[in-house]
Amino acid sequence: MLEKLENEARNCKACGLCATRINTVFSDGSKNAKIMLIGEAPGADEDKQGKPFVGRAGKLLNEFLKQAGIDRHKDLYIANTLKCRPPENRKPTKEEKAACEKFLKGQIEALKPSVIVLCGATAAESFFDKKFQITKIRGEIFDNVKGFEGIKFIPILHPSYLLRQHSTQEGSPRDLTLKDLIMIKKAAL
Ligand code: URA
Repeated sequence: MLEKLENEARNCKACGLCATRINTVFSDGSKNAKIMLIGEAPGADEDKQGKPFVGRAGKLLNEFLKQAGIDRHKDLYIANTLKCRPPENRKPTKEEKAACEKFLKGQIEALKPSVIVLCGATAAESFFDKKFQITKIRGEIFDNVKGFEGIKFIPILHPSYLLRQHSTQEGSPRDLTLKDLIMIKKAAL
């Protein structure tokens, strides 16, 4: 099912981003993972390589995962809300997210993860209706998301934000993210 969906995404022309993409960026990691991480959209490096989180933010994410004892290749399945890169890395539009939603939903349906990590505000907005601040809801477990009952949704700060936050002191964004990831590993057991 995932392969079929990935093929479909590769040929997708449902929004304007197909005109500027080099590659579609469907997923990385394990199809048997219990934890699915959802980011925003591919950047320039991801577009070139056809894989999510391989640029600067991805390298920082890898460091955090390693410190939290999460194996990117075995414990995690990684996807984005959009499968194509928005020009200049602008935020995805409502229309683009709507056009791409069937792929993300299909990925969740096929993977059946026990935990979904919503990486940053854009990913969180795709599942929560209410307005919220990501800094206020990060690290919380939401287990009653409509249509996805039984899955624990846990928002975390986006590594692109952490690239600009260098402190690792207790309570800093980096410290909180590491603690969130350690908790996420336990939540998936
Ligand atoms: N940021 C994201 O949200 N996703 C990627 O794949 C890379 C950077």
